[in-house]
Amino acid sequence: MATPDAILVARGVEAGYAKKQILFGLDFSVSRSEVVALLGANGSGKSTALNTVSGFVRPQAGSIRFEGAEIAGKAPHRIFRLGVVQVSQARDLFSEMSVEENLRLGAWVRGGEVARLLDGVYQSFPRLAERRRQMVRLMSGGEQQMVAIGRALMADPRILLLDEPSGGLAPSFVAEIAAIIKALKARGIAMLIIEQNIKLALSVADRFLILRDGRVSQQHDVKAGMREEEIVRRIYL
Ligand SMILES: Nc1ncnc2c1ncn2[C@@H]1O[C@H](COP(=O)(O)OP(=O)(O)O)[C@@H](O)[C@H]1O
Ligand SMILES: [Mg+2]
Repeated sequence: MATPDAILVARGVEAGYAKKQILFGLDFSVSRSEVVALLGANGSGKSTALNTVSGFVRPQAGSIRFEGAEIAGKAPHRIFRLGVVQVSQARDLFSEMSVEENLRLGAWVRGGEVARLLDGVYQSFPRLAERRRQMVRLMSGGEQQMVAIGRALMADPRILLLDEPSGGLAPSFVAEIAAIIKALKARGIAMLIIEQNIKLALSVADRFLILRDGRVSQQHDVKAGMREEEIVRRIYL
């Protein structure tokens, strides 16, 4: 599956925590501008897989190549600077700080670049522009997710890793998250997305992977049109 267009390629990745191994030989790739959904049961290791790519979990074995360079085991800030940027499940915002302060923290670039990136985020999310001085704690879950995605965009990512972007959000926000992901895809940003909401995953992804027993047990093109019930069956049964 590693086409010449692949920007992220994982091979035989093994990782976990202390005495508990979670990933047992993870193989997958993401191509330029491609959106890949990582599906799997609760606790199957989806977040662990993302955290291993972004460097927060150290793999015990295997290879993860980004743009041809080995990143497995590198420090998170070095992987981040290469353009691999994660929006974690917990969003990790500074809730007592304003929208704009949170956004600025996402930028590691300096000077005029920050202003340009900030403009870009405000253009994509006019609602954040209106509320740039608002404390994040006072915003809805969906708006906070926008701040988290906006902060990731401040790093000018080559690939975004989104961990359950619709998690815990009101249904009215789910469509909005889908629209955001589609807009980012149209800008050519590759994405690896974890989603429990299979309908949302199918509406934005080109391809989906099913994580089972610490491995990618199956992968399918969304275009092949597999039904949601069938996907659920393959995740759980
Ligand atoms: N920091 C951690 N320390 C120890 N075990 C963890 C940690 N994070 C997750 N786990 C365990 O690893 C397994 C996979 O978790 P996770 O990757 O979060 O799954 P998913 O995102 O698919 O729900 C679970 O059994 C979970 O309890
Ligand atoms: Mg998770």
